[in-house]
Amino acid sequence: MNLFESNNIKIEPNNLQVDIVLGDLIEIGEHRLLCDSSTDHFWRKATGFTSLCKEESVDLIVTSPPYNKKNWLRNKSKTNGWIREIEYSSYDDNLPQEEYVRWQKQVIAQCLWALKPSGSLFYNHIDIMSKHLTIHPTWVYDFPLKQVIIWDKCGTPKLDESYFLPFTEWIFWIKKDKDLVPYFDRNSALLKKNIWSIPRSQEANHPAPFPEKMVTNIVMSCSKPRDLVFDPYIGSGTTMVVAHQLNRKCYGIEIDPKYCQLIIHKMKKLDPSLQIKINGNVYKK
Ligand SMILES: C[S@@+](CC[C@H](N)C(=O)[O-])C[C@H]1O[C@@H](n2cnc3c(N)ncnc32)[C@H](O)[C@@H]1O
Repeated sequence: MNLFESNNIKIEPNNLQVDIVLGDLIEIGEHRLLCDSSTDHFWRKATGFTSLCKEESVDLIVTSPPYNKKNWLRNKSKTNGWIREIEYSSYDDNLPQEEYVRWQKQVIAQCLWALKPSGSLFYNHIDIMSKHLTIHPTWVYDFPLKQVIIWDKCGTPKLDESYFLPFTEWIFWIKKDKDLVPYFDRNSALLKKNIWSIPRSQEANHPAPFPEKMVTNIVMSCSKPRDLVFDPYIGSGTTMVVAHQLNRKCYGIEIDPKYCQLIIHKMKKLDPSLQIKINGNVYKK
């Protein structure tokens, strides 16, 4: 199977029997997937970062949190179809904005705790446009920013005539400390400029997956073979799929048991030789 094609694996997720429950630790070969909240949440104390990673143990983090879009949809007219709704299987994506910002600062701080001094965090987010206002992810500017990359999605589902067509999202390249130099090899990058034109993923089993080419570009240029790549909101598992294909180890956290089951399914299809264990017990289904 070629790189970039594995997200086209059709899975029929609604037929997938979900054997995973919150709190399960899943071993997929040498990769690890924790079904839990990656950070403390109003209903759950999280230990994911500290149980999976040691301080300064991770070479690269690639992640995209939920965007809190429902909060912006609430009480707003949907007649113009301006904000594309994202329906996760269980996560509601609807926090008061101040709480959301606190949560996101907490997760970025924990990512930086886990990163090695030579490591990088790639944090994807979007400008939410609603009612002639733009909500920009300003909280990232509290952290040492190495570069801002523009993801050109080569299309948009949003056709509101009162805006220029919004084709882009942000990828913030954040480093552990302002004086540190993260590992980077531009010769290994597929896309060498800071505008990445990559169509959205065709993955049918998750509402907001990364395109594999985006993760590939980051992993190839900002990590080496055998390095540890981490994703605290791993969703449909794109980061693990790419890391495996590029001979990197991946740890990930995902709150939704259904998506964790999907990742097991995808990884087994990608590489049937991978042994799966759930909480230490071999899983054969
Ligand atoms: C934007 S999606 C990530 C998609 C991923 N990049 C991919 O390629 O599929 C965000 C994910 O975060 C998960 N999530 C929401 N709250 C979480 C939490 N507290 N801890 C871990 N995962 C969470 C959602 O279930 C969703 O799958």
